[in-house]
Amino acid sequence: MDNQQILSILQDFEKQLNPTKINKSHIPVQVLGYGEISTVIAFDHPMLKNMAFKRMPIFSSCQQTNDYAKLYFYYNEKLTSIGLTIPPSDAYCVEGHNGIYVAYLSQQSLNPLSIGNKILHTHEDKQILILLAKIINHMKKVWHHNDQNPDFLVGLDAQISNWAIKNFDLEQKITENTELWFIDTSTPMMRISGKEQINPLLFLKSAPPGLRWILKQFFLQDVLDRYYDFRQVAIDLVANLYKEQRPDLISKALQIVNQEAKDYLDTPITEKEVSSYYNEDKFIWAFYLSARRLDRFFKTKIFGKRYEFILPGKIKR
Ligand SMILES: Nc1ncnc2c1ncn2[C@@H]1O[C@H](COP(=O)(O)OP(=O)(O)O)[C@@H](O)[C@H]1O
Ligand SMILES: [Mg+2]
Repeated sequence: MDNQQILSILQDFEKQLNPTKINKSHIPVQVLGYGEISTVIAFDHPMLKNMAFKRMPIFSSCQQTNDYAKLYFYYNEKLTSIGLTIPPSDAYCVEGHNGIYVAYLSQQSLNPLSIGNKILHTHEDKQILILLAKIINHMKKVWHHNDQNPDFLVGLDAQISNWAIKNFDLEQKITENTELWFIDTSTPMMRISGKEQINPLLFLKSAPPGLRWILKQFFLQDVLDRYYDFRQVAIDLVANLYKEQRPDLISKALQIVNQEAKDYLDTPITEKEVSSYYNEDKFIWAFYLSARRLDRFFKTKIFGKRYEFILPGKIKR
């Protein structure tokens, strides 16, 4: 498939898209996942088969989009050289509405049942714990790299929904030999000689204007720093079990994590740490999503303007 053809389909799609009514699009689309700033979609189009696209409507020029794409590819390469496996990816710059530019990051599309958070509900506990141990082992590779290369630090968001089982077959058990994809590389976190390569202000575009200042002053650096800290990334991974409705697994998961990662943890992670982290995190993201909905309401219903982001419906946490 020719990149130019893909680009032109994406361009047509973006032109007709109403983000508040994505189901009314001229090409049928399926939303595969929602993130804080992006939406992952699959098109029912013969030329876009087997591809998943992450839509990021946050750029002000194609130059800026391409600079971002360069970092994205660099991050993919870096993680690959560290020993993670990323699905084949590409990036497209599409012109949006009102002078904005939209990055569409493509990836080979994976079976939705192969994604980590689905596995939590389809597989036996024993297999889920093997999956968690595998994730921790990938994390160890990243932090081993960081220990060896203090001038080139790599951050990682290791939450369960960012991993998928390779060569997935629902009938097959997860074993020591199972291999994983790491799929969430759209926040290219790399600190070279102490300098963050991505401009984090870019991500603030997804926030309601009234919140941007406060987020920038009090949260942005903190959120980014988290992903460079092994302990916090591991806590986040375990805390996902609350969000994904498997709190019953937390205590066993912690045993595995503390054992597998003992060289990377000064002291074992406690259940208390996980639950208080989760409560805070849940509050922050629920608040953030409400603020975005409110922003959307004012923009679209009161001022009759366009709202660029595709927001999720109610999320069970
Ligand atoms: N290549 C893919 N194939 C199938 N589903 C995907 C793919 N990439 C992402 N998804 C789905 O979308 C969700 C969000 O994607 P992710 O890359 O983690 O972005 P975010 O930054 O929004 O967390 C994933 O958890 C997964 O369910
Ligand atoms: Mg993710």
